[in-house]
Amino acid sequence: MKPLHVCITGAAGQIGQIVAFKVANGEIFGKSQLINLALLDIEPAFPLLEALQMELEECLFSSLKSITITTDLKVAFEKCQYAILIGAKPRGKNMQRKDLIEANSKIFEEQGRAINEYADRRIKVLVVGNPANTNCLICLKNAPRIRNSNFCAMTRLDLNRAKYQIALKANRNVSTLRNVIIWGNHSSTQFPDVSQAYFINEDDEIDNENDEEIRVEEVIKDKTWIQKDFIELIQQRGTTVINARGLSSAASAAQAICDHMRDWIQGTPSNSITSFGVISDGSYGIPRDIVYSFPVVCFNSEWQIIKNLKIEEFTKKKMEESAKELIEEKETAFRFLNY
Ligand code: NAD
Ligand code: LMR
Repeated sequence: MKPLHVCITGAAGQIGQIVAFKVANGEIFGKSQLINLALLDIEPAFPLLEALQMELEECLFSSLKSITITTDLKVAFEKCQYAILIGAKPRGKNMQRKDLIEANSKIFEEQGRAINEYADRRIKVLVVGNPANTNCLICLKNAPRIRNSNFCAMTRLDLNRAKYQIALKANRNVSTLRNVIIWGNHSSTQFPDVSQAYFINEDDEIDNENDEEIRVEEVIKDKTWIQKDFIELIQQRGTTVINARGLSSAASAAQAICDHMRDWIQGTPSNSITSFGVISDGSYGIPRDIVYSFPVVCFNSEWQIIKNLKIEEFTKKKMEESAKELIEEKETAFRFLNY
C-alpha cells in the first residue's frame, strides 16, 4: 500500500499536537495505512515542532513512515493528499470568532495558493482555524485547480457538543442518537437542530432496518429547552470553554477533526447523517458562494448534502440568520483581502 501524504498546519499548537498523534496512531486512515506526515508551523514555533517530531518518533507508531517538520508552504503541501488546516490565531475572552478575520484571512489565502500550486489535485482539505467557514471559502477561492467540494470547514465539534447535551437531557446513551444537524456558521449564529433526530433502541446500537426509532422531540418534551436553552448552550459552548480554561477547546476539537475526516474518507455509518461546512449549492434557499454547514452523508470519499428535509418556519429563520452572518463575514474578509 502506498503511503499517504498528510499535512497538519499549526502542528505546534494545542490542537495540532494532539491531532498529530491521532493521525500517526491510525485514528483517521487506519492502522495499516502508511503515512508521510508533514507538520507546518511558523518560525518561532520551530523548536516545538522539533520536540513534537522526537516524541512522535519515540511512540514507534507502525503506520508513521516519515515526518517532515517545516515552515515552508511548498515543503508542507508538496504532493499533499489530505490537509488539516489548524494553524491560525485563536480568539480570547470577550471576542467573537469573526474578530479573527483580519488576523487569519491572509494565512488561508497563502495556504490556498500553495495547495493549488503544490498539492495533489485530489487533495481533501479540512479548515479548522477560525473563523472556519470564511477561512475555508478564502482557501478554496485561492485554489481554482482543486474542486470546491474537496474543501470543508469543521462544525463537527458543534455536532458532538449538541449530541452530548441531547443524550444527557434524555438520559439515553449518545451512541443511540441519530441525525442531529448543525446548520450554518461555526459561530454563535449556528443552529443546532433536533427536528430530524431520533434515538434507536438501547439494545440495538448496530443499525438495521427494523430498529425501533423514537423522535428526540417525543423524548424531550420541554420545547422551551429545545428551542432556547439547548440552542444557546451549543452556540456559546466555545466561549464557555474559553472562560473556564483561559484557552479554547483542544482535545475535543482534535477528536472532532478525526471524526470529520473518518466519516469523509471511510463513509458515514448506515442510517446516519453528519454535518459539514461546505460550499453552498443553493440547497434550502441558502445563498451560493458561502461555506455553510449542511446535513451530509459520505460515501466513496465524497460528501453529499441531504436534500428535501422538511423545514419548519422556526428552523428556516435560524438558518437564514446564520447565512446572513456568513455573507457579512465574506464581505469583510474580501474587502480586507482587496478582492
Ligand atoms: P494555538 O495558538 O495553540 O495553535 C495555533 C498554531 O498555529 C500555533 O502553533 C501557531 O504558531 C500556528 N500558526 C500561526 N500562524 C500560522 C501560519 N501562518 N502557518 C502555520 N501555522 C501557524 O491555537 P489552537 O488552540 O490550536 O487553535 C487553532 C485554531 O483553531 C484557532 O483559530 C481556533 O480558534 C480554531 N479552532 C477551531 C475549532 C472548530 O471547531 N472549527 C475548534 C477549536 C479551535
Ligand atoms: C470552539 O468552538 O471551541 C472553537 O471554535 C474555539 C472558539 O473560539 O470557541
